[in-house]
Amino acid sequence: MNVQDAYNTWADSYDNVQNKTRDLEARAIRSMVLGGPFAEIIELGCGTGKNTEWLATQATHLTAIDFSAEMLRRAKEKLPHPHISFQQADIMQPWQFAHSPASLITCSLILEHIHNLDFVFAQAHRSLQPEGLFYIGELHPFKQYEGSKARFDTAAGGIFELECYVHHISDFTEAARRHGFSCVRLQEWFDDDNCTTTPRIVAFLFQREDNA
Ligand SMILES: C[S@@+](CC[C@H](N)C(=O)[O-])C[C@H]1O[C@@H](n2cnc3c(N)ncnc32)[C@H](O)[C@@H]1O
Repeated sequence: MNVQDAYNTWADSYDNVQNKTRDLEARAIRSMVLGGPFAEIIELGCGTGKNTEWLATQATHLTAIDFSAEMLRRAKEKLPHPHISFQQADIMQPWQFAHSPASLITCSLILEHIHNLDFVFAQAHRSLQPEGLFYIGELHPFKQYEGSKARFDTAAGGIFELECYVHHISDFTEAARRHGFSCVRLQEWFDDDNCTTTPRIVAFLFQREDNA
């Protein structure tokens, strides 16, 4: 099963099973993305809408993207708001979904499935307005080193593990630097806020550099 098919299958249970990574990242984005309202937000990999509902309260217009028809269908059913445009698209193809230059792009728990970070940063730079913000919240690479990755229980029984790539912290910061972003915030998030354990989530806020 490729990643797209896997999310079409996982969509049935994604909201209903315990998922510490999903829930902790929801806290991270709400804490790190400040300064709204934003005229145009692009949400990459919106899934079933975990963050879409909150982002919609921060945006004049929100473009929510996912390549899984089944994840997207659930998000649309939950959030029939006229200022949200849901679009089925693969973020590894040139981005043609932007409504207007975005003031904020968000990306939650999707880059684990993307091999080429450079393509994503290049497209984000093109799609943002000057000094626009790019938020990324991902499974922390320290968790990945311990073997954590996106997986779900299948209806047939058994666990299905999705295709995932490890991205080190410097992979994000160096890709950002190469494509004209500075890192304005970097935070690590721990289960039960217990900083003696391995961090579960890493979250970055990058800004498009447009100073002379
Ligand atoms: C772990 S889910 C996260 C969903 C949501 N952002 C959240 O935090 O709950 C990853 C999502 O990214 C989507 N996705 C993965 N690769 C993608 C790609 N290349 N283009 C568009 N969406 C993609 C999947 O379909 C899935 O909905």
